[in-house]
Parts: sequence; structure tokens; C-alpha cells
Amino acid sequence: MLHKDIEEVLVSQEEIKTIIKALGTALTEDYANKKPLFVGLLKGCVPFISDLLKELDFMLEVDFMDVSSYHGGLQSSGDVKIVKDLSTAVKGRHVILAEDIVDSGQTIQAIRSMLLYRGAASVRVVTLLDKPKGRVVQLQPDYVGRTIPDAFVVGYGLDYQEFYRNLPYVGTLKPSVYQTENEES
Ligand code: IMP
Repeated sequence: MLHKDIEEVLVSQEEIKTIIKALGTALTEDYANKKPLFVGLLKGCVPFISDLLKELDFMLEVDFMDVSSYHGGLQSSGDVKIVKDLSTAVKGRHVILAEDIVDSGQTIQAIRSMLLYRGAASVRVVTLLDKPKGRVVQLQPDYVGRTIPDAFVVGYGLDYQEFYRNLPYVGTLKPSVYQTENEES
């Protein structure tokens, strides 16, 4: 039922599996003895990190943050608000921030600065997808699964108006989905 709204599949289920294996290998090499705090950014990170965590062969702790910047629409508001903070202290810890997608970079930059201010020993960013064309701040994620064009995508955690997160792949929506939305509002 969801699939009928998809215009084009940009990253297939098979490609996602391959990407996650490669990210897991890179992180396992870099974090062997660091016992990092692995922080997932809700809600988009859920499918991504549930697969990625199983590829990480080192001691780590997991925590979550929920921040909002898009408010469900198509464009980042640039205004990053903490909806749920960490329950773990970060002082002296190596932190891995896991994002579904980095677009303008404002969300990650704001959280990264805040965690460093709180005394984190290091903060690195792993993202499934990177949209460098959308960047408005100077920020390069440390581990990137796939670079994609500057299009709005849904699936595998990514939403449009909170829907489509449960698609097993990443794709673009048909223009008719946005038109229906405009007609309804
Ligand atoms: P940034 O602050 O602009 O980098 O935005 C990062 C957040 O915006 C991500 O965690 C997503 O929640 C959301 N986002 C950015 N691009 C897209 C997209 O193409 N589809 C769905 N959500 C997106």
C-alpha cells in the first residue's frame, strides 16, 4: 500500500545491507578499546541503528536523543529543539552520533557542540545518508553510508509528515502525494 506512493527507489534493501556492513567494519576498527557511547537520534535512526548495532563488534553503551528541526515538513527550520535529552553523562566519553540523514547539517552541528560543551572526549557522526548540497554549515559527517542528490526522501526511518518510516528502502515520493496534502489543508 505504501509502495504505490513511491516515485523512485534510491537505496534498495540490498544496498542498505551492504552499506551497513561497511559502516560496521569501519566503526569496529576505530572504536575497539574506547567503550563509546552510541547515541541514536530519534525517531529516524531506529531502523538504521537496529541493523548497525548488530555489526559493531566492541563494547559500547546505547542512549537516545530526540531533537526536532523539520517539524514534519519538507524543509529544516534551522531551529533545533531538544525534545528528549540523554540519560547518560557524556563527560570524558567518546560519543558516536547516529543520524538517518545529514542535510543542512544544523541538527548535528548543534548536538555535537552541546556534547563537546558537556565534556565529551570526542564526538563523531555516522549517517546512513548525506545530502551535501543542502549544507548551510561547515560540517562533514565522519562515516557516511551513501551520498544522495538534494531530493526529499522517505523510508527506512525517514518520514514525510511522520509517515513512510516503515518502508524497507529509501525513495522519493510521487508529486501527487504532496498535491493531495496541499488540497487537504
Ligand atoms: P539537518 O539539520 O538539515 O541536517 O536535518 C537533519 C534532519 O532533517 C534529519 O534527521 C531528518 O529528520 C530530517 N531530514 C533531512 N532531509 C530529509 C529528507 O530528505 N527526508 C526526511 N527527513 C529529512
